[in-house]
Amino acid sequence: MRRVTVPLDPPYDVVVGSGTFDQLGATLDDRCRVALVSQADVATQYAPAARTALAREGRAVERFEISDGEEAKTLPTVETLCRGFTRWGLRRGDAVVALGGGVVGDTAGFAAAVYHRGVALVQAPTSLLAMVDAAIGGKTAVNLPEGKNLVGAFHQPRAVVADVDTLASLPEEQYRSGLGEVAKYALLPEGTAVAALLATRTDAVLARDPETLTDLVAQCAAIKAAVVGADPEERTGVRAKLNYGHTLAHAIETTGQSAIPHGDAVAIGLVFAVNLARTLERVDDATVASTRALLDALGLPVTVPEDRRRDELLVVMGRDKKARGNLTFVLPGPDGVELVDDPPPALLERALGAVGVRG
Ligand SMILES: NC(=O)c1ccc[n+]([C@@H]2O[C@H](COP(=O)([O-])OP(=O)(O)OC[C@H]3O[C@@H](n4cnc5c(N)ncnc54)[C@H](O)[C@@H]3O)[C@@H](O)[C@H]2O)c1
Ligand SMILES: [Zn+2]
Repeated sequence: MRRVTVPLDPPYDVVVGSGTFDQLGATLDDRCRVALVSQADVATQYAPAARTALAREGRAVERFEISDGEEAKTLPTVETLCRGFTRWGLRRGDAVVALGGGVVGDTAGFAAAVYHRGVALVQAPTSLLAMVDAAIGGKTAVNLPEGKNLVGAFHQPRAVVADVDTLASLPEEQYRSGLGEVAKYALLPEGTAVAALLATRTDAVLARDPETLTDLVAQCAAIKAAVVGADPEERTGVRAKLNYGHTLAHAIETTGQSAIPHGDAVAIGLVFAVNLARTLERVDDATVASTRALLDALGLPVTVPEDRRRDELLVVMGRDKKARGNLTFVLPGPDGVELVDDPPPALLERALGAVGVRG
């Protein structure tokens, strides 16, 4: 088992390993009531063990389920949860445990942030993406019909408890998507240990070996924890590096007809960003080649799906809320990963061409 501390006031731990559910109640009062929020598939497989672990000290535990997918991340779902909490008798001193992927974590986390003006929260992520990203840092939110994550709050959990054994049942597509986010960490200057692990234990990573996953998730969590500690509420530019690969990724996700998993879009975005950095002479050919090789080894896509149109991608990238210029990119370079505004159009075209987008 590995433990990563998120350096906030108060600090909290990300506990990673096999069979970590024993730790679910470690930061909660022995007598508190616990609303265990999950989703059908995840709940059937893992809620019984989570409930047993939480009830051991004599706590009352009640299960609440939300439906699957982005469509469940809404204010009506939060209202349904909060009404259920009230009917069951959840009070100010009680707790919410979010057991599931990022959708459960964001929705149950936001409910915990606003119910009785905030109750204790424990994040128990069960997807790779949630373990390395969504569950850490206290960002909670739901979607509006007008856009994603438009209503939310910062609500730090008491603890993040990641049981890597749960990843065994994660659908292949979701697992690969999580690896896209892992690849992002590997390509940051502070990600050399992640990159080395991915390079030397590729087969074990793809086979979801629990020991390897414990190391991998803990290393990624440590990078996220350090960034969150340096900029808890995204007021400075420190968190920008977590958006490496994400400018084009968001545009790929919001255009075209076919759905694409977030991490797949990030992988394509990373190839685009490193090529753009190359045309700007911020990195060398070897960096471009090693980025490609890493993503190929993990089975991640490296070209934009054919139904995405160049003009639409550019329009969406121009609307990026993090943009300072007309177009702002997060690019690697000699001083690490930084924001770069408005690259020359010809260079932008070359980088788009490198991921299969033609004018
Ligand atoms: N708060 C943040 O900082 C933050 C950061 C990144 C992403 N997010 C959010 O996270 C969400 C995406 O999270 P996600 O990728 O985990 O998607 P998800 O929560 O939709 O999970 C993907 C699918 O896998 C299933 N699943 C999860 N764990 C499983 C398991 N162990 N076994 C079998 N099935 C399992 C889920 O039920 C779901 O069907 C998005 O809404 C995104 O906005 C939030
Ligand atoms: Zn991401």
